[in-house]
Amino acid sequence: MPYVVTENCVDCRFTDCVEVCPVDCFFADGNMLVIHPDECIDCGACEPACPVEAIFAVDDLPADQAKWEKINADKAMSGDLERLTESGDPLPTAEAKRAALGL
Ligand code: SF4
Ligand code: F3S
Repeated sequence: MPYVVTENCVDCRFTDCVEVCPVDCFFADGNMLVIHPDECIDCGACEPACPVEAIFAVDDLPADQAKWEKINADKAMSGDLERLTESGDPLPTAEAKRAALGL
């Protein structure tokens, strides 16, 4: 039951999640992160670390976020994305997106 990054991460990429992940299974594209489903050990540490509540266990995914399970897997296993091992600056659009989300 891996964890999944969903819509709220898009245009945010706060990367607090990377800081707490014990197995470094986050990968970055231009506007979000995804979790490698075969590397995630289901520790749950990243879920409360995200300031915009973007991370869910697969079994807890809201119905309207279900598509993100496949998106995380496809992107993480594509071989095209960079593995992140350290947190960094959020995207320039992050605070505006957080405000729009009311978080
Ligand atoms: Fe990493 Fe744990 Fe989050 Fe999986 S649940 S991505 S192992 S912090
Ligand atoms: Fe994205 Fe939240 Fe991590 S915004 S980069 S899932 S801390």
